[in-house]
Amino acid sequence: MDLLGVVLAGGLGSRLSPLTKVTNKHLLPVYDRPMIYYPITTLTRAGVRDILLVTGGNNAGDFLRLLGNGREFGLTHIDYAYQEGEGGIAAALSLARHHARGKGLVVILGDNIIEDDIEAHVEAFRRQGRGAKILLKEVDDPERFGVAELSGDRVVGIEEKPARPRTRYAVTGIYMYDDKVFEIIAGLKPSARGELEITDVNNAYIARGELTFDFLQGWWTDAGTFESLLRANLLAAHKRSDARPRDEGAADPGLR
Ligand code: DAU
Repeated sequence: MDLLGVVLAGGLGSRLSPLTKVTNKHLLPVYDRPMIYYPITTLTRAGVRDILLVTGGNNAGDFLRLLGNGREFGLTHIDYAYQEGEGGIAAALSLARHHARGKGLVVILGDNIIEDDIEAHVEAFRRQGRGAKILLKEVDDPERFGVAELSGDRVVGIEEKPARPRTRYAVTGIYMYDDKVFEIIAGLKPSARGELEITDVNNAYIARGELTFDFLQGWWTDAGTFESLLRANLLAAHKRSDARPRDEGAADPGLR
C-alpha cells in the first residue's frame, strides 16, 4: 500500500490568541524549531516522504517560504492545499481527496508532538491494507480529547471531549485511513460546534468493523493551549538535550 502523509495545519488557533493574531499557530516556536517541523519529522522518520500540507488563514504563504520543496527535510514531494475557514479536521482532510489517488493516508495534526517513532505502527497499517488505525495514549485529562472505549482488543466507541470520560485513553492526532475516508467525510454532518469531526470519521470505521488501534509508548502532547504549548516546549527541549542536532545546514533538520 502506497502512503501519502497529510499534515493538517489549518484552523484559527484562537485558543492561543494573541500569539496567533498575526501568524499561524503551527509557525510558533516549540523550543528551537517552528511547530510544523515536528509532525513533518514524525512522518519522514516513519518513511512517509510524500506529503500534503493543508493550511489556511492569512499566513499560508509563510509555509511555502519555510518548507519550500521539502528536500531539506528528506521529503520526496510536498504539495500544499488551502482550507477556507475552520470547518473542522475532517473538512481539512477532505482536501486531500485529489492527491490521494488510491493511496493510504497517514494523517497527523500540525500541533501534535510526540517522542516515539511511529514507523512500526505505519508498517502495521500497511500490512492491514485497508480500513483505519488510530493511536491511543493514556492521559490525566481525557476530557480535552477524543476518548476511546475499549472492549478486549477492539475500540467500541469514541466520544469527542466528553464531560465524563469513560476511560483515560485519548485519541491522539495521528490517524491512518484507506481511501474510503473521503466517502465517509462526504456523508458527515457538522457537529454542535459547527465542524466536521474526525471522531465521527473514526466512529464510522468502528461501525464498519475496520478500525484498529495501537498505544503510543513515549510521551505525546498537543500544543493548542498555553499550557500544552509550554509542555511541548519543555518536552522538546529535554528530548533535544539527549541528542543535540547536527551542525546548522545539515541535511535533516528534523528531530533526532
Ligand atoms: O490532539 C488530538 C485531538 O485533536 C483529538 O483527541 C480530538 O479528537 C480532535 O478533535 C482534536 O481536538 P482539538 O479540539 O484539540 O483540535 P483543534 O481544533 O485544536 O485542531 C487540532 C489541529 O487540527 C490544528 O492544530 C490544525 C488542524 N485543524 C483543525 C481545524 C478545526 C485544521 O487543519 N482545520 C480545522 O478546521
